[in-house]
Amino acid sequence: MKKISLTLTSLALALTAGTAIANCDPGERVVKFSHVTGGTTHPKVVAANSLADRVNTEMNGKLCVEVFPNSTLFGDSKELEALLLGDVQLLAPSLSKFGSYTPKYGVFDLPFIFKDMDHAIRFTKTKEGKDLLLAMDEYAGFVGLGYWMSGMKYFSAGKQLTVPSDAEGLKFRVQTSDVSKAMISAMGASPQAMAFSEVYGALQTGVVDGQENTWSNIYTKKFYEVQDSTTETNHQLLAYLFMTSSEFLASLSTADRTQFLQIADEVTQAANLNVKAAEATNRANIIKAGGKVNTLTPAQRQEWVDTMSPVWKKFENDIGKDLIKAAAGA
Ligand code: SIN
Repeated sequence: MKKISLTLTSLALALTAGTAIANCDPGERVVKFSHVTGGTTHPKVVAANSLADRVNTEMNGKLCVEVFPNSTLFGDSKELEALLLGDVQLLAPSLSKFGSYTPKYGVFDLPFIFKDMDHAIRFTKTKEGKDLLLAMDEYAGFVGLGYWMSGMKYFSAGKQLTVPSDAEGLKFRVQTSDVSKAMISAMGASPQAMAFSEVYGALQTGVVDGQENTWSNIYTKKFYEVQDSTTETNHQLLAYLFMTSSEFLASLSTADRTQFLQIADEVTQAANLNVKAAEATNRANIIKAGGKVNTLTPAQRQEWVDTMSPVWKKFENDIGKDLIKAAAGA
């Protein structure tokens, strides 16, 4: 990767978009990393850019990673297909977006299954968690490289939500997860699955009344600007499958593959250590920017837990009782 000189304008644009700037040399193999998040403080942006920095320095002359954030290359609906077609080599989609491939990742979506992110990280290090990382490898072409945590999720809406009955009759944007859809229905609200890139506009125009996400997504996508407030429900995890294709891995020499996989693993470990701090920073950023955060008393929080707990039973057979037990008890 050559050092390049940037005009102030192009540097400012790149920083705003959270883009890792790479200028690949002619002999280098270009590796495209597409994702849907943005800003500079988002854990996925930080991890993807760190991967690019490390590969582009340590494998200089061989591989050159270019990061395309903010759905600028592929959005939610196209990225998995693009990976199989070889149009992109690296992705980190939310685990909630794999429902058409495997119901197993639904375990990560079960409401209140993880007390916090440390609990979720512990689960990913158990035998069941490690086996689950390979669930997509069953589908020819996909290879799971690691779990990247993003944060716990919170509900925002055009009105303050303190107890689940406040959400009755409202329409919430969700990812393409059957568990999330069932959870919203359990609140007496309507779920509407929608691509991440469309959420701000849908909240602004009233196509939906609310959404659920991490502090990092709510801040970097400015959802707080078009919502009354965000309630600290901590009801669900958002995590990603950092993944590649078997075709890409097979195309590398043994030495390059080993080095790339080592960097990918180290970046994954470091990324998961950074997440709690990134979430705290983005929560503070929302408040600084004028967004409202609504905290719950233990009794109010318990109402959310009670309302959503029937969802587990509904997905017990698809996900597997043992897997649910392993995650809950990790
Ligand atoms: C992401 O963090 O990758 C997107 C999450 C969402 O679709 O809500």
